[in-house]
Amino acid sequence: MTRSAPDAHAGVLVIGGGIIGLAVAWRAAQHGLKDIVVADPRPGGGAAQVAAGMLAPVTELQYGEEPLLRLGMASNERYAAFAAELTEASGGQDTGYRQCGTIAIALDSDDREELRELHAFHQRLGLDSRWLTGREARRLEPMLAPGVRGGLHVTGDHQVDGRRLAKALVLACERAGVRLHRAEATALVVDGGRATGARLATGGTVTADQVVLAAGPQSHLLPGLPEGVLPAIRPVKGQILRLHVPPAYRPFLSRNVRAVVRGQHLYLVPRENGELVIGATTEEQGYDTTVTAGGVYELLRDAHELVPGITELPLVETAAGLRPGSPDNAPLLGPTALPGLVAATGHYRNGVLLTPVTADLVAGYLATGTTPDLAAPFSPTRFAPTGSTTKVPA
Ligand code: GLY
Repeated sequence: MTRSAPDAHAGVLVIGGGIIGLAVAWRAAQHGLKDIVVADPRPGGGAAQVAAGMLAPVTELQYGEEPLLRLGMASNERYAAFAAELTEASGGQDTGYRQCGTIAIALDSDDREELRELHAFHQRLGLDSRWLTGREARRLEPMLAPGVRGGLHVTGDHQVDGRRLAKALVLACERAGVRLHRAEATALVVDGGRATGARLATGGTVTADQVVLAAGPQSHLLPGLPEGVLPAIRPVKGQILRLHVPPAYRPFLSRNVRAVVRGQHLYLVPRENGELVIGATTEEQGYDTTVTAGGVYELLRDAHELVPGITELPLVETAAGLRPGSPDNAPLLGPTALPGLVAATGHYRNGVLLTPVTADLVAGYLATGTTPDLAAPFSPTRFAPTGSTTKVPA
C-alpha cells in the first residue's frame, strides 16, 4: 500500500480511481505529464466491477442522442487498439475484449414495431444494422426462445470484461509511474479562485497543477467544490447476475443478446471463459447497492423469456452497482468553470464504452489545454443556468 506523505505535490491529481480516472491517468503519463497521482481507497473498484462490459453504441442508441452516438462510435473504434496497448503496457493482462457483435431481439409484435423503428433510425444515420426475421435470429442464436419475432444484427457492437480492464489499468498506471494513493479525497482545495489540490483521508494534502474529478456518482458531493461547478450526478442502481456456462453447453450464446422486456433493458453477455452476465435493473433510489430478491427475480424471469435454457446454468454471483447519471445522461468531459478543475464523470450507462475516448480527450486537454470538436457537446459548463455565475471563492 502506498501511504501519502503528509503533504505532496502532483502535476495532475485524479480524484477517483475507477476505470475512467485510471485511464485518464495512464494516458496523461503517456503524454509525458509528470507526477500523476490517483486518489482512491480501492483503485480499479467502482462500477466496472459490476458492469457487463457491453460496447454497444448502436444497439443502446436512444433518439435525440446523436452527439453521444458519435462519441460512443469514436470510442468503440478505438477499443481494439486501446485493449491491445493496455495488455502490452500492463505486462500481459488480458482485458477480455471480444469482437462478437450483438443482436437485439423482439419478443412480441409490439417489440418488433419498436425495433423496426430503431432499424429505420439506424439506416437514416448510415449505421451497420441488419434486420433479422425470428427464424434468422434463431439460426444465429439457437438458444433463443422459439417465438422470437425478429431482431437486429449489429456486427460492430462488442464486449470487454470490466474487471480485467480495471486490473490492466491499475497495472499499466503503476508501470507508467502513476502514484496510486489508496485514500479517499475528503475535500477539494480551492485557492485564489483555482482548484489547487485535495485533502486526503489519510492526512495531508496533495497540491496539484491540475485536478481531475472522476469520482462517478460521488463527484458533485466532494466537500469544497464550489456551488454550480458540477450538476448533481445521480446514482442509478443496476443489479446484475453472473451465470456459468459449463464446457459441455458451449457455445451457449455466441454474441451479446439484448431485448427490451416490460420496458427494462435486458442483455446477456457471454464471455469466452464461460461467464454469462445478465443485466441489468435501472433503479433510482439513492446510494443503495443492496441486491434484492425482486431484482434477481425480474432479471431471471425476463432472461428466461428470451433464452429459456438459462435456468439450467449455475448462478454464481449477484451484484449491484451505481451508474453516474448526469442531468442529460451524457458525460462531463473537460475543463469546468473552476480553473484548474477538469471533469471526467457522468458517463451513466456508457462508462466502459467511453473509457478510451474519455482518456484521450481529457488527457489531451491536460497536456495541451485544448479539446477537439468531438468533446464540445460534453463540456461540463453546459449545465450552468444562463446568466448565472458560478460561486467560486476568491
Ligand atoms: N450499459 C448497460 C447498463 O448500464 O446497464
